[in-house]
Amino acid sequence: MTTNTRATFGSKIGVILATVGCAVGLGNIWRFPYMVGSNGGAAFLLIYVICILLLGLPVMITEFFIGRRSRRNAAGAFKVMAPGTKWSFIGYNGVLAAFLILGFYSVVAGWTLEYIMQAFSGSLSGKTAADFAVEFETFSSGIIRPIGWTIAFIALTHLIIISGVKSGIERASKVMMPVLFFILVALCIRSVTLPDATEGLKFLFHPDFEKITSSVVLSAMGQAFFSLSIGMGCLITYASYFGKETNLQTTALQVTLLDTLVAILAGIMIFPAVFSFHIAPTAGPELVFITLPNVFEQLPLGWLWSFIFFVLLALAALTSTISLHEVATAYVHEEYHMSRKKAAWFVSIGVLVLAVISSLSFGILKEYTIFGLTFFDALDYLTAKIMLPLGGMFICIYVGTRVDRKILKEELTNKSTIPFHFFNTYAFFMKYISPIAIGIIFLNELGIIKWIKGLL
Ligand code: PHE
Repeated sequence: MTTNTRATFGSKIGVILATVGCAVGLGNIWRFPYMVGSNGGAAFLLIYVICILLLGLPVMITEFFIGRRSRRNAAGAFKVMAPGTKWSFIGYNGVLAAFLILGFYSVVAGWTLEYIMQAFSGSLSGKTAADFAVEFETFSSGIIRPIGWTIAFIALTHLIIISGVKSGIERASKVMMPVLFFILVALCIRSVTLPDATEGLKFLFHPDFEKITSSVVLSAMGQAFFSLSIGMGCLITYASYFGKETNLQTTALQVTLLDTLVAILAGIMIFPAVFSFHIAPTAGPELVFITLPNVFEQLPLGWLWSFIFFVLLALAALTSTISLHEVATAYVHEEYHMSRKKAAWFVSIGVLVLAVISSLSFGILKEYTIFGLTFFDALDYLTAKIMLPLGGMFICIYVGTRVDRKILKEELTNKSTIPFHFFNTYAFFMKYISPIAIGIIFLNELGIIKWIKGLL
């Protein structure tokens, strides 16, 4: 592979928008609100923000370092940086995680297309809360429609991927991300001006510390990794397309802040509306699909609000599915010396198989469970709560113990042309705090800490 012909993003704003596009997705707008709702509201938010700052930011900077230094895909990066060692397992874990995430993510992405069509055709109008629940249940447990939309979404992702890095990923993100932001802000304004909106804001921002349990902490950590797209090489792959002059520190900070802002805005958009219309905030993955059309339905021009919202969700999903697809495509393309197009086909077909099974796990395959979880839930749990945090932990351990500090600093300061005032703090967090904290959260969830305490 010749590194000098490798594609790069064309501009600074392109770098930020593509990376924000990768981070901001269904994780922020679909997964975050129901995680907040089912894990006790503001207490979850608090732990989430702590995870973002203590674990997320250092891991993100470290992934940027690996990606731009090696200029390779997630698995290839470790072959370049630690040749002949076993560290490339981190990359393989990432490529596999991308594949598995796409396997359930494209199902939810497909649902957004169905709801766009329903809103547009007016079939969401005139329904009651109970109707929305039944409709969602019937639709998601079906065969042809959900699978059809999932295939459509994978095809859309495939098309953008084969258009390449600059004219595909970068151009799409540059248009879609600003549109998304505007729509989200408009929906927030609508939501906070509803009657009793303060109840929802209280739920989101007023923590009840009694609600913090080990599983809330694990869920918050999983959500932080999932939402920032870290721990699985997505940002290694994207950083490999960054130019020499990209400031890795500020890019990481901007992406982290924007991603968190979008999640909190999504919360502000959803909870006041949910409380205002007396809907239970604790609903699961269906929160967005059942409660929101119901909420919008009760507003003037309801179909239009629904339409706008689901377009927003689809756009957010698309900029993330292309980043997930890219991780796997770049790996197959570079490591197996296959053309980009052919590699993309391989990935798309593989994802399709997983996605069909995930989709059917809401219907005819519902009874087939793995440790009590449906196929869809198992993919979500395995990736967000296990593979990504462990990936992030090993990324930190690798860079913390195997990479010369001088090299790390040289890359993060663009050969000393930009300052890095908090380098020592970052290095300390990356080497000690992040991996140890991730380890403790796991041990705590597994009950091992309680067991040790019992022995003392
Ligand atoms: N961060 C994306 C989201 O919030 C999902 C994602 C995870 C994308 C991991 C890439 C890698 O929707």
